[in-house]
Amino acid sequence: MDCPELYINANSLQRIDAKDVLERWIGKMIWKSNEIVLDLGCGPGDVTSDILYPFLKNKIELLVAVDKSKQMVEFAKRNYGCSKINFKVLDIENVNDCTFNSCGFNKIFSFYCLHWIQNKLDALVNMHLMLKNSGEILVYFLLVNPVVELYKCMDEEWKKYVPDIIQKAQTIYSEEEVKLLFIKAGFKVISIESSIKKHTYPDFTSFLNAIKPVDDMYNILSPHLHDRYSIHVKDKIYEKQLVDICPTTGKATHSYIPITVHAVKN
Ligand SMILES: C[S@@+](CC[C@H](N)C(=O)[O-])C[C@H]1O[C@@H](n2cnc3c(N)ncnc32)[C@H](O)[C@@H]1O
Repeated sequence: MDCPELYINANSLQRIDAKDVLERWIGKMIWKSNEIVLDLGCGPGDVTSDILYPFLKNKIELLVAVDKSKQMVEFAKRNYGCSKINFKVLDIENVNDCTFNSCGFNKIFSFYCLHWIQNKLDALVNMHLMLKNSGEILVYFLLVNPVVELYKCMDEEWKKYVPDIIQKAQTIYSEEEVKLLFIKAGFKVISIESSIKKHTYPDFTSFLNAIKPVDDMYNILSPHLHDRYSIHVKDKIYEKQLVDICPTTGKATHSYIPITVHAVKN
């Protein structure tokens, strides 16, 4: 996920969902004046700047947006940096990065990031560490990571390149398992909600274009294998019916299971 230009051209779903989540949940949070807020896993910064920031601008002193990818953060700084939004590199799984920011934030938001994190409990403990007392967290992510599920059904020729840490990681969570992780990390869960959603792309190619920027196999495989790998991805998605393609319109509908957790630091 190191290619901000590719990602930003195919993230319409992420933008729609972030806006929906904020419209529903921001009024349920308790706001004081001059808060300092963190956006975890900000990617190229468009969701932070175009969607999250307008909801917060009258309430906050500073929005700090972090991502572990240097490329994403550099792109975000170039395109969306301003006096009230500070983009920085931070890996939520790295306790040193997080200790440096301990008790630094009144709120933490995170969209479409946690399903990429292998050790979710450590990440949540680190988020808890970075919150001030009574600080709130609003996290939106997927219970099933579609790209990792795709890796699992690939032919051995390609599966062998998938890092061990991903092959061995738990990739499907229930709402109850997520709730327990938050509690174990020290949070009091205020609300938790998950449901099956559908998103329709104009055609199959648009769906493939949305998956490609978040498929890290393109960083692992040598460039001369990329075209063959893309064909394999396309064939597998088709064969396993990971999207529904309408025979008359050609539109591609993808089902996914997002979860929203609103919790407070005990
Ligand atoms: C799918 S993008 C989401 C970007 C943006 N929040 C949005 O909704 O469009 C997920 C981002 O999470 C970042 N990420 C993954 N693991 C991370 C970690 N351990 N620490 C910080 N960021 C991480 C990735 O680099 C990527 O930019």
